[in-house]
Amino acid sequence: MDALKVLLERRSIRKYRAVNVSDEVLQEIVEAGLYAPSGLNLQPWYFVVVRTPEKMTQVRAVMSVVALRFNPILQKQFHDHPEVITETNNFLVTLGGAPACVLVYADKPYGAEGRDNVIESISAAIENMQLAAWNRGVGSCWIGAPNHVDCAGLFEAGFAAGRGEFVAALTLGYPAEDPKPHKRKGGRYTMV
Ligand SMILES: Cc1cc2nc3c(=O)[nH]c(=O)nc-3n(C[C@H](O)[C@H](O)[C@H](O)COP(=O)(O)O)c2cc1C
Repeated sequence: MDALKVLLERRSIRKYRAVNVSDEVLQEIVEAGLYAPSGLNLQPWYFVVVRTPEKMTQVRAVMSVVALRFNPILQKQFHDHPEVITETNNFLVTLGGAPACVLVYADKPYGAEGRDNVIESISAAIENMQLAAWNRGVGSCWIGAPNHVDCAGLFEAGFAAGRGEFVAALTLGYPAEDPKPHKRKGGRYTMV
């Protein structure tokens, strides 16, 4: 697919078909993450690709703890939109039936470059994976909630002991929903 089309049409997917993503496609996606730009070319990431039903059950168990702790934040932010609270909670607990996900870690201790540099670089890698996935018809959703509710340690101890700091999870699977592309032309920039 044309690169610009992929990035203009990508949407977060929170409902997935019960169809596995092949190892070949998963590898293509995760390797796209390795090609992201990174500050000082540190490539400060470590990825765990989860794709067995047993391990996905383990991920959902941790996300259920996240959902419980995240609820007060949702109640505050979306008190006028109870449907958003329900949807977000359901997604965290079920992961929308995603057959796979990538757990993303910062695997370098921060030196003089600082934490921001590392997190910015890892964010670029996550976006690369989302776009590579969309290019293959695979949907994804970036999940940062665990870090807001002190659950990163559960993903560190449970899936990548000693490999660094948990940053986010990225669900992967063939979409069972079809959100329309955004319309975001103009507005938030100037050309000087
Ligand atoms: C840093 C970051 C954290 C996010 N965390 C979550 C999350 O915890 N749960 C979730 O459902 N979506 C999460 N998202 C997805 C956003 O909600 C989504 O990207 C945004 O609503 C725009 O929709 P789009 O991706 O379809 O363009 C996150 C996205 C980013 C960039």
